[in-house]
Amino acid sequence: MEPKLLNILPMETTVSSDGHLIVGGCDVVELSAKYGTPLYVYDESTIRTMAELFTKEFSDRYSNSRILYASKAYINPSIAKLSIEHGLGIDIVSGGELAVAASVDFPAEDIFFHGNNKSRTEVAEAIDYGIGQFVADSFYEIDLINELASNHNKVQNVMLRLSPGIDGHTHKKTTTGILDTKFGFSIETGDAEKAIKYVLTCKNLDLTGIHFHLGSPIFEMEPYDLAIRSVIEFLSPLIKNGFNMRDFSPGGGFAVGYTSEKSPPNISEYAKTIVKALTESCEQFDIPYPRLLVEPGRSIVARAGIALYKVGAIKEIPGLRKYVSVDGGMGDNIRPALYDSKYEVIVANKLNVTDTEVVRVVGKYCETGDILAPSADLPRCNTGDLIVLPTSGAYGMSMSSNYNLNPRPAVVMVSNGNSRIIRRRETYADLMRCDEFE
Ligand code: LLP
Repeated sequence: MEPKLLNILPMETTVSSDGHLIVGGCDVVELSAKYGTPLYVYDESTIRTMAELFTKEFSDRYSNSRILYASKAYINPSIAKLSIEHGLGIDIVSGGELAVAASVDFPAEDIFFHGNNKSRTEVAEAIDYGIGQFVADSFYEIDLINELASNHNKVQNVMLRLSPGIDGHTHKKTTTGILDTKFGFSIETGDAEKAIKYVLTCKNLDLTGIHFHLGSPIFEMEPYDLAIRSVIEFLSPLIKNGFNMRDFSPGGGFAVGYTSEKSPPNISEYAKTIVKALTESCEQFDIPYPRLLVEPGRSIVARAGIALYKVGAIKEIPGLRKYVSVDGGMGDNIRPALYDSKYEVIVANKLNVTDTEVVRVVGKYCETGDILAPSADLPRCNTGDLIVLPTSGAYGMSMSSNYNLNPRPAVVMVSNGNSRIIRRRETYADLMRCDEFE
């Protein structure tokens, strides 16, 4: 297989003598026979490797640092347990993600609760669980958390999310560090300073730190460098006047390689840039070094995951196009339709076939926009062949739906030739489990 593809497939990927894709020691043809398709397959060792890499690249450069897994990329009890095993904290954004963390006894102090509109119930549940930090996004939330902490006779740790006005140069639907965003307190409008001074007067809140997140995925270093330096400069007078900043987070957003055309920076480059900007600006403004918290999501799980589909209908329009339909699509991966995201495509049972043709790979959903790959150069496909989309581990299952009332795929974890279900395939009964009917 071409090296360019191996760089975006799970780390221990090989090809069998009969041209089958082997992930985590498992032949995907056998996985499809055992578990059916569509199927999400996660290579455990890739997740573990990325968790260790992030910890090493940051702690080697800045010992007082912590990696928080951004669970919105994909979370379930098995992934949460892997996070604990590798000493990662977790960035949650809902009561549901808290429930998954609690289901594996995630250490409460390592849970950071994000989100621009946390409900009263979610905040109460999180305070009950004893979570480490809230990251507050608005004056409304400052008051809500303060009130509920008071009801619990607690002083609750909070960080404030700022919007530094820096563009991460990513998709407009995933850019969050600019002025015109629903997220965070704007430095430009003066809200950020007001919020910091206000929280410091709240009896049941302890303002431990400051957070921002520029967007996702970010391929450039400059946005992180600029944002860190400008935020530390903004904070310096407030810290000089009594704000004891113990935590600082530049969020996540680290890019991954979806296609062989656009390779992401190494994690070491992000770590070098972030640590350099933080240490230099703390020295420049004579600020004590805070604990550094980074929040990778995609870059921990994306490469570990592949989406495995079976080819069904094939439609040829002479002289125009061949449509290859698979048994999944926008219901399990909305990203191509939502962000025009590009993926490589592999015919996982024909890796030794050289005769190729350009086709359009489409899903089974009743939407013209349900296109997984508009133009893919593939070995000639037949019904029953297996198609894999690499780099599908992030924001695939986590954004999945039951549109057209299609059950969500099963998810298996593979390691050393063994496979185990970490989420069973949904059934039709699952689709109706919440419906009330006579
Ligand atoms: N921290 C915060 C506060 C975030 O909002 C996010 C992602 C992350 C960390 C993790 O970003 P990551 O390292 O996963 O890029 N659905 C989009 C991605 C939305 C990301 C939302 N926030 C997609 O499919 O590309």
